[in-house]
Order: sequence, then structure tokens, then C-alpha cells
Amino acid sequence: MSPHPAVPLASARRAHYHGASAVWTQEYMRIGIFSDVHSNLEALKAVLAAYADEAIDSFVCLGDTVGYGADPQACSDLVRKTAKVTIIGNHDAAVAGRMDYSYYYDAARSALDLHAGQLSRENLEWLRSLPYEHRIDDLAFCHGSPLNLEEFDYIFAIDQAEELLSDFPQWARVTFIGHSHLCKAFALTPNTVHEVIATRFTIRENFKYVISVGSVGQPRDYDPRASYTIFDTDEMAFEFKRVEYDIQTAANKIFESQLERNFGNRLFLGV
Ligand SMILES: [Fe+2]
Repeated sequence: MSPHPAVPLASARRAHYHGASAVWTQEYMRIGIFSDVHSNLEALKAVLAAYADEAIDSFVCLGDTVGYGADPQACSDLVRKTAKVTIIGNHDAAVAGRMDYSYYYDAARSALDLHAGQLSRENLEWLRSLPYEHRIDDLAFCHGSPLNLEEFDYIFAIDQAEELLSDFPQWARVTFIGHSHLCKAFALTPNTVHEVIATRFTIRENFKYVISVGSVGQPRDYDPRASYTIFDTDEMAFEFKRVEYDIQTAANKIFESQLERNFGNRLFLGV
């Protein structure tokens, strides 16, 4: 497979980019949004191959490209080539020396130490340069909760999403997040939060949304398939998608490395 999938563009309605800052305006766009690759090259390649059938105009990666798996360097190369916007995750921040991770449990910490030694200088500099948040029109992209970006707080339950209500006006119409490795969506009004239980849904008037896009390389919802998502700005429609990948190969690479064996075992279970 080509490292950069040849995605057919919706040519008559395609996006217009403005400069290297990856800020764009558009009349129409299908955005491929994915997160938490965690050095799982087999899962990342399967997701990009699946996206090739989806007429994606632009990709956004919500962080944690490194950590846990066996291919931090190849995954960083591929995400850099593919995504117009990449956000920094906590594992990226740790590897890039932007965050104290001495309190992480031993196996996760030693994976990060190992990855820091495996990444090229170019990729380390890339990780160091990534933003905590990116806003495009009325869409926001970050790794954890948008409330305190550098704290990487989780949002995967209603009470966590409710913490956003006190500052409701400042949130984008839709905020896309990663971090929990779970596929979750919440619809907010100034006073209420409810969970959206659907794999495909349309953004409704008078609501703001927080959408957790799941994980490419280490799903934790007992479904071991890789997660990826699509947001269509014309239809204001969002979709969670899953694809099978070669878990055995990804796990074997972990078993043959100095990484904790459990990082390989858990891939088969999706935990
Ligand atoms: Fe993660």
C-alpha cells in the first residue's frame, strides 16, 4: 500500500488550503478524524486503506501517535505525511520532553523511554511542535478535554462532559477528542448533556457536541478492530467506523521487542 493513500477528492466542492498552518476554509469537506495510533502500524495502514474508499478531503490526527506499540517511527512518518493537522497527545508530550511522566506505571514509562530513543530527530521535533488544540471554523480538535488542554482530562462519561457546561459559550459547535480510546458522543445544551447512541448521526441545531473518536491502535471497548471516523461538513454528519487489521503481526512485533507483553495481548481483546 502507498504510505499516502490516493484518496479521491470531491473535486467540484473540494477544500481550499491557506498556507502551512493548515487552516482552511471550505465550501464542503469530508474530514477523516482518527486518534491514538499508539505505534500500531498494521492498524494505521488498515485505517488509511479503508479511508481510501471514503473520498476524504483532509485528515486530522488527535494525538498519541507514539507509546505502547512497536512502530513509533513508521507511524510518526505516516501520520506526518497523511494528516493536515495533528494534535499532541499525552504520550507524544512525554516522548517529546514536554510533560513529566515519572508518575506513569512502569511498563508505559519504559515504552516511552524506548520510543524516545527510536524516533528520528525530525520526528521528535515534529512531536515537540504539535499544538494542544486546533480550531477550524466552528470545529475544535484536541486530545483530551478542551477545558484544561495541557491536563489531558478524560471525557467518556456524562458527568465528565457536564464539566464543560459552566463555560458553554466558549466551546466550538463540535469538539473532537481522543485519549479515552472509546467511541463516545455527547450533545450539550447550556444546561444539559446527553449521550448520543448512534454510529452515524447529524449535528442538530441548538446543540454543541463533544465526540470521542476511539483509537486506531489500541481500542478499549472490547472490539479489537481499529476505530476511525468521518465528519462531513456539508451534511454536518458524523460517522464512527471500524476495520479489522492484522493484530497478530502487530502483537508479534511487541512480543519480539523489549515492550511489555501485555501491550500485545490486549490488542486481541480490544482492552
Ligand atoms: Fe492514548
